[in-house]
Amino acid sequence: MLSAECVDHPAMPASRYEQLVQSVVDYAIYMLDPDGRVVSWNAGAQRIKGYDADEVIGQHFSLFFTPQDCADERPQRLLKQALEQGRTQDEGWRVRKDGTQFWALAAMDVIRDEQGQIVGLAKVTRDITDRREAALQLDAVRAQLFEVQKLEALGQLTGGLAHDFNNLLTIIISSARMAKASPDPVRVQRMIEHILQAGQRGTELTQQLLSFARHRQLEVTLLAPLEVLASTRGLVEHALPREIVLHERLDCDLPLIEVDAGQLQMVLLNLLFNARDAVGERGVIELAVHRVDLAGEVDGLQGRFVCFEVRDSGEGIEPEVLPRIFEPFFTTKPFGKGTGLGLSQVYGFAKQSNGAISVHTQSGQGTCMRLYLPAYQPGPRAQEDR
Ligand SMILES: Nc1ncnc2c1ncn2[C@@H]1O[C@H](COP(=O)(O)OP(=O)(O)O)[C@@H](O)[C@H]1O
Ligand SMILES: [Mg+2]
Repeated sequence: MLSAECVDHPAMPASRYEQLVQSVVDYAIYMLDPDGRVVSWNAGAQRIKGYDADEVIGQHFSLFFTPQDCADERPQRLLKQALEQGRTQDEGWRVRKDGTQFWALAAMDVIRDEQGQIVGLAKVTRDITDRREAALQLDAVRAQLFEVQKLEALGQLTGGLAHDFNNLLTIIISSARMAKASPDPVRVQRMIEHILQAGQRGTELTQQLLSFARHRQLEVTLLAPLEVLASTRGLVEHALPREIVLHERLDCDLPLIEVDAGQLQMVLLNLLFNARDAVGERGVIELAVHRVDLAGEVDGLQGRFVCFEVRDSGEGIEPEVLPRIFEPFFTTKPFGKGTGLGLSQVYGFAKQSNGAISVHTQSGQGTCMRLYLPAYQPGPRAQEDR
């Protein structure tokens, strides 16, 4: 972006500079006096804002702001900030001559004369409506992808859960029958205890499932890694065949992390489902969480991280498949078993959270996936402690 120093650039005479500024059509480049009145106007400004030079020169630049922004004194605040700090940046709606609005990225730089006196401000504005819309669309697609993934994960979970619910109902019904037929009050008491426990367990299961299903808005909060892990394990236990052993290795002293709980839970479910699919009929899945200090070993990451590790004793990943596993829709599973979206979500989440995902695998030996998420740093003090 242009900055105020260009104005006095020794290699460029003022007339040449004027020509250059005039020929730029993608940026509105104009000058304001220290009170915020327009003193020059280029072709880009004319194109973007719709006014001819003679219509705006002498007018206050609040002319380009929405009525709401004017009522909130946004132009005045920006001007004051630029005059005090030498420069200011702003992003927001601006109004064209015909009343239509565009999303602007604007910078304002103070210009001083040789004595250091403020002579005006250089204002550079860019219409980034398209870029903003593309970003909004990307967010919407991400949210849709999250929903699709959630439905897929729920589908995988409910099969296992239905089976567990059946078991709980069997306990409840048989205990109730026995209690009904028994004359022994102690035994009846014990049966009622069984019924209560089974009922309680059923409620916990539905609550876990509902909280996962209901989680809609992406909301980044401070989380204790072990709590997310416990609720994920509560869900995944029902989706694993009994012959698959799930081991856990957990560090007790883990820092907090700052991510969306629903997304993290889904990422862990994705890794665990992949491990389950790789293990097949019987085998071991290990779920570990620990604290690590990185100095660029993983994706150039530096600092303190929480590492979630999912290791399986499965088939491993073939070298020719490995480079493609994070691609959306890449799957080696038969139709109906895989969508190829799991790891792309894991990858997106890791990047978006300023973390990383790493894969270690050997064909026939199993796979280890590690998700690194930055430890929450409460303030400058904690940085010093590091
Ligand atoms: N733990 C694992 N062991 C072996 N292969 C894996 C593992 N995790 C992922 N893969 C491979 O990566 C591919 C993509 O995974 P993913 O994006 O989760 O999609 P999906 O599970 O629907 O196929 C899988 O089809 C599989 O070939
Ligand atoms: Mg998967």
